[in-house]
Amino acid sequence: MLEDIMVEETKVVLRRLRPEDAGALVKFYNGLSEASKRTFRPLGITTQLADCKAVIQENRPESGRKYDLVAVRGPRIVGWSFLWELKSEEPIFGLGIADAHQGKGLGSALMDRVMKTARERGLRKIFLTVVKDNEVAWKMYEKHGFVRYGEYYDAKDALHYFRMAAELEQ
Ligand SMILES: CC(C)(COP(=O)(O)OP(=O)(O)OC[C@H]1O[C@@H](n2cnc3c(N)ncnc32)[C@H](O)[C@@H]1OP(=O)(O)O)[C@@H](O)C(=O)NCCC(=O)NCCS
Repeated sequence: MLEDIMVEETKVVLRRLRPEDAGALVKFYNGLSEASKRTFRPLGITTQLADCKAVIQENRPESGRKYDLVAVRGPRIVGWSFLWELKSEEPIFGLGIADAHQGKGLGSALMDRVMKTARERGLRKIFLTVVKDNEVAWKMYEKHGFVRYGEYYDAKDALHYFRMAAELEQ
């Protein structure tokens, strides 16, 4: 399903990640600023075509492990949100917006759409982790029904995180 929203009078389309998107996903991901990568790096510090192809592969119905939605402006991906580990007891939610497009409602729009899909698929609970000082993100997650239930320190990146979960009504 396509959903159109306007950002500065240029159409941004929200749609499912497609097989031909691997290159655009690499560019989006590797183009994120240091500040954004500090709080959003599901594929590590940088990514490569093979990693993005693997994400796309896991969106295929035969796999069913991932649901990835992208915000697309012309040929570019400018936002990405996902549900991963769909076959586990703890599906994971993720969200990242290109720096130039932050603060314009795109994150909220992607999140609404992905959570709607989670409900439609009958998921009961979804999980995420968020850097504690990323207040914009965790406040937005609270607005969308996530509740903080724990916290931890990651020695690898020396950051403190909240654990959050959302119980979904069917
Ligand atoms: C956090 C992030 C996903 C939010 O997406 P976004 O498109 O920038 O946010 P939106 O424009 O949809 O705004 C969502 C809410 O946050 C608020 N907000 C956004 N940017 C803000 C800012 N810089 N300062 C204060 N509030 C801000 C908005 O006012 C809005 O609140 P409201 O619903 O009460 O009006 C995005 O900024 C991002 O990708 N950041 C870097 C990567 C990251 O941290 N990802 C999350 C990892 S857990």
